[in-house]
Amino acid sequence: MRLLFIGDVVGRSGREAVADVLPGLRARLRLDLVVVNAENASHGFGLAPEMADALFAAGADVLTLGNHSWDRKEIIPYIAQTPRLLRPLNFPPGTPGAGAAVVDVAGGRQVLVLQAMGRLFMDTLDCPFRGTAEALSRYRLGGTVAAIVIDFHAEASSEKMAFAHSFDGQASLIVGTHTHCPSADHQILPAGTAFQSDAGMSGDYDSVIGMQKLGAATRFWRKVPGERLVPADGEATICGVFVETDDVTGLALSIEPLRMGGRLSQAMPGTA
Ligand SMILES: [Fe+2]
Ligand SMILES: [Fe+2]
Repeated sequence: MRLLFIGDVVGRSGREAVADVLPGLRARLRLDLVVVNAENASHGFGLAPEMADALFAAGADVLTLGNHSWDRKEIIPYIAQTPRLLRPLNFPPGTPGAGAAVVDVAGGRQVLVLQAMGRLFMDTLDCPFRGTAEALSRYRLGGTVAAIVIDFHAEASSEKMAFAHSFDGQASLIVGTHTHCPSADHQILPAGTAFQSDAGMSGDYDSVIGMQKLGAATRFWRKVPGERLVPADGEATICGVFVETDDVTGLALSIEPLRMGGRLSQAMPGTA
């Protein structure tokens, strides 16, 4: 199975870049499944239903959210009828939407995608470790599902690494989101799970995590509320990870970073 995960799409720059490039990437990398984190698609804050529709139309199979899940209120009725749009599974019981979805892919295979959110320097939530263990207990990698992709939306690298090692061997890919900086620690863990602590954002990197740098920097210089943060609108670098899995075991055979367009050094899977 050939999987692509794309990190946090930020604003118009990120949305347009993903919409431009994803159809070609699907063909070029012969992708079976594409998961896109879209929590910052709407001007940096949340996801509007029409933006979700556009990302699905461009070739995303599953969209994930995060701490910005509800910044656009219109997404609340939309998520209730869109099982392929996920929010963290460890939100309190009764929260709209779901944290996991099983998706049909080519060849009659099924993939489980789930999202959990960390708690270090983040909102107080139910335990992401216990919640993920409980969700995974209902599936068997290489048995009931051919692959399992987990988006762990968290701030701290320590929590992300602890999470990944806790579920090593139980997922095809565990990838972090939320910091908006791609980490260079992509690897296959000892029991066969591909891991990168953060996928990075898909947005303009001449910015402060995707937002215009002057307004964002002013907030650190002065402790008075500044002007509203606005997404930077230069050319986006699309950041993600590409993983190939073994069809029998569901474990990872390779993991490669993808960085395409914009200011960051370029990385295209299959060309190293
Ligand atoms: Fe984000
Ligand atoms: Fe986030």
